Amino acid sequence: MKISPKMKKALNDQVALEGAASNSYLAMASWCEVIGYQGAASYFYVQSDEERTHMIKVIHYLNDMGATATIPSIKAPSSSFKSLEDIIKTSLKNEQLVTKAIHKIVEITQKEKDHSTYAFVEWFVNEQVQEETKFETLLQKFDLIGRDKLAINEIDKFLAADTASTANSTA
Ligand SMILES: [Fe+2]
Ligand SMILES: [Fe+2]
Repeated sequence: MKISPKMKKALNDQVALEGAASNSYLAMASWCEVIGYQGAASYFYVQSDEERTHMIKVIHYLNDMGATATIPSIKAPSSSFKSLEDIIKTSLKNEQLVTKAIHKIVEITQKEKDHSTYAFVEWFVNEQVQEETKFETLLQKFDLIGRDKLAINEIDKFLAADTASTANSTA
């Protein structure tokens, strides 16, 4: 094993965290779909897929380092939401938790002079900056556009367009 047991534990915890995030976004997507927020639904289905790819990235890394990833069990995410704004607030909070976990891993890499894991986790540090900014910007929209039905419809359309543009840029 090329990484310490402590690092192995931290990375396996990260696998579970990314998996939980994927599941949580899936619950949000489904809630939006049922309500009829089609843009938000497709947006959160994409978020869920992204978190799954993050989870797999960490699994590959652990296995490549001879540390063997642990596949976590799936816990039911909370699935009762008050509003689209509530969903986006919850998303931001979750991303902030993930950022903290990533920063902890960075601290371990520094203490252990584990340059390989530092290089690996750097991608996640940058990703978390983008993730938090994304949800902060979305939250601002409620203050800027409003919270009535028309405003929510505008935000839903924005989310649809954003999802379409992400799909095009990654295609
Ligand atoms: Fe993630
Ligand atoms: Fe994320």
